[in-house]
Amino acid sequence: IGSFPVDFEWSVSSESFKVEGGWAEHGKGETIWDRFSHEDRVFENQTTDLACDSYHKVDYDVYLLRGLMAPNYQFSVSWACIFPTGRKESLLEKAVAYYDKIIDTLLQSSIEPTVALHHWDLPQALQDAGGWENDSIVEAFKEFSDFCFSHYGDRVKTWITFGSPWVVSNLGYGTGEHPPSGKDPIIVTHNILKSHAEAWHIYNDNYRKLHGGKVGIALNSDWVEPRNPSSDQDVAAAERYLNFMLGWFAHPIFVDGDYPAMLKEQIEKKKDLCGKELARLPVFTEAEKQRIQGTTDFFGLNHHTSRLISESLNSSSDWIQSVPWGVRRLLNYISLEYTSITKVPIYITGNGMPTEYNGDVFSDTERVDYLKAYINEAMKTVHLDEIDIQRFTVQSLMDGFEGPQGYSQRFGLHYVNFEDPDRYANNGSHSLTAHICA
Ligand SMILES: *[C@@H]1O[C@H](CO)[C@@H](O)[C@H](O)[C@H]1NC(C)=O
Ligand SMILES: *[C@@H]1O[C@H](CO)[C@@H](O)[C@H](O)[C@H]1NC(C)=O
Repeated sequence: IGSFPVDFEWSVSSESFKVEGGWAEHGKGETIWDRFSHEDRVFENQTTDLACDSYHKVDYDVYLLRGLMAPNYQFSVSWACIFPTGRKESLLEKAVAYYDKIIDTLLQSSIEPTVALHHWDLPQALQDAGGWENDSIVEAFKEFSDFCFSHYGDRVKTWITFGSPWVVSNLGYGTGEHPPSGKDPIIVTHNILKSHAEAWHIYNDNYRKLHGGKVGIALNSDWVEPRNPSSDQDVAAAERYLNFMLGWFAHPIFVDGDYPAMLKEQIEKKKDLCGKELARLPVFTEAEKQRIQGTTDFFGLNHHTSRLISESLNSSSDWIQSVPWGVRRLLNYISLEYTSITKVPIYITGNGMPTEYNGDVFSDTERVDYLKAYINEAMKTVHLDEIDIQRFTVQSLMDGFEGPQGYSQRFGLHYVNFEDPDRYANNGSHSLTAHICA
């Protein structure tokens, strides 16, 4: 039905540790993902060492973007690349120049850069001091974001403070599926929220007038439906799921500077149940609440799938199922709960699904259908529901290092041959490319 508004923004994405490689080059600092992969904790012991070799292929990556006619490219900077120890004293000029080159090359091709300050790859040196569990990291993140705004801000107009921070808290410091396998997701979320707010204030106070850009956060969330819609327990379970996945971050930022009441109650209940110091939700002071509330210029959403939730069954498979109508419901929910309070546009900052490549036949049909259907549902949300969505970002520009799954899950619009030491895409084209741009 119809088309998107003329000023609607299209983007494709990548993340530093998934594509850059060059992991120890020029004195770059180790990240927690370098460490994790070197400890043989990834599928087939694959590592971040070379990845897509984007560290040496700025021109080629931009050539791929031009081929897609992408008006915008969303990528993340690696903190450990710019500040190897995580602190500004360790500034690495060569790494700073690498991101200068990406940004300048993009702009020469009329492609707008969108930069994420943090997408999972914490400097190992900061992790050695406790990482996101140590509240002194708030100061370190302020320093890093201030540097990025001051150095790149004349050319970068859209900033994302954190990409999918729920994953950092819950997989990095909860289940341990991701590094650093820390212990306290509750404190981690607390420190990430404060870091986000401080970065936004730095931009707002010192750079907004000068550069006129936007700073927001990109939250990841599934949509959930109660398995039995007429069961009060299932409905409550679905609501809890959304509160723990999305509300934990979104409520403080978009609503009132504080955690959702339902989350507080649930954590208290769990504490009573377990009878130990398992969960202690930190309390924001009034000053902290004021400092956090409203610190965003857009609602960034990373979304991949929907799930059925019941009282007894808390989460089904992790696999990404195609449920296109779920994105429309989620966008309506976000509008109702969050962007009707802090009035900012929604940016879809990541949507896509992987193909598993069995080394033989490569079929993208399912992914093509997935993207078409999700994009169509986003359009319905714009036109029929009149929700202010201004951007859609397809994840990803190319296949890359997908965390514990290594290179076995392919999200790329471009295929990457990881057997090829040069890492150039096969013939530079890929079936999806043609379909999406048609
Ligand atoms: C991965 O590394 C471990 C040692 O850490 C080794 O036992 C295992 O065979 C390796 N697996 C593969 C697929 O290379
Ligand atoms: C927290 O970070 C500070 C500053 O880096 C450090 O001095 C301190 O030892 C860290 N605390 C822990 C428990 O690692």
